[in-house]
Amino acid sequence: MSQARALLLHNQLTRPAILDAIRAVDFPKGSRGLDAGCGLGMHTRWLSEAVSPDGTVTGLDQSHEHLRLATEDAPANTLFKPGDLFHLPFPDNEFDWSWSADCLWAGPKEEGFGCEDPVPLLRELSRVVRTGGTVVILFTSAKALLPGYPALEAQLDTASAVSYPFLKGADPRIHLMRTLEWMNDVGLHDLKARSFIANIQGPLDEETIKAVSSYFPMYWDRAKTEVKSEVWREYERLCRPDSPDFILNLRDFYGFLTITAFWGTVMG
Ligand SMILES: C[S@@+](CC[C@H](N)C(=O)[O-])C[C@H]1O[C@@H](n2cnc3c(N)ncnc32)[C@H](O)[C@@H]1O
Repeated sequence: MSQARALLLHNQLTRPAILDAIRAVDFPKGSRGLDAGCGLGMHTRWLSEAVSPDGTVTGLDQSHEHLRLATEDAPANTLFKPGDLFHLPFPDNEFDWSWSADCLWAGPKEEGFGCEDPVPLLRELSRVVRTGGTVVILFTSAKALLPGYPALEAQLDTASAVSYPFLKGADPRIHLMRTLEWMNDVGLHDLKARSFIANIQGPLDEETIKAVSSYFPMYWDRAKTEVKSEVWREYERLCRPDSPDFILNLRDFYGFLTITAFWGTVMG
């Protein structure tokens, strides 16, 4: 499955949670916002509905392929621009708010993370927002995807250490659950943190099965070399779509993902 297809399925699955987050932040009607690292522009669309009819949302991404897909049938009050999160191509105070979801994954460069230190990125997201405006960071934080197998799920999580943007030995301060500290570091005020749930309830339709199936290798295939062979066999029995015991075929499947949002106000 292509990265864009996996992202689209993820966007569809998490839509209710993202809409809850948008409602909780309560963007003013008519405001101008930035969706930094907008991917396929799904959040950009949903955000643009929140600020309609007079507000606008600009989606920014470094991937030309993502931006091409984002502009297809995009609402009139959205626009898209190529650019780098670390050097936003906008003057100071350009927006009423900025939003960045699942982009600030900090960690060792050699492990494939986008940056070593999230604070400069947060400073950049604050720079382009006017005094009194809002900076919002979101990420996919926790999950429960193997109902009935908590020990297996815990072993896979521990072994792969990719279900969270945090690796053994990394500085705890760059873990995304410490976003409030980074927000304090850059001088944001009135900080808030809330988690929103994307519920996954069976019987699952084909699209949801594809979405959740795409999480299994992403979260847990790295565990293969770390876990005992019986743990790996159990994982394959439950998580491979061609297995007769594929867990997503359970009529009464229930699982969830959480989306955590942090936001704060820019002070002059
Ligand atoms: C996991 S996707 C999230 C997309 C979108 N925010 C969402 O939640 O659906 C991360 C996005 O960040 C973009 N990205 C990563 N590093 C970037 C950078 N330095 N500058 C701009 N975009 C970047 C990628 O191209 C990708 O589209």
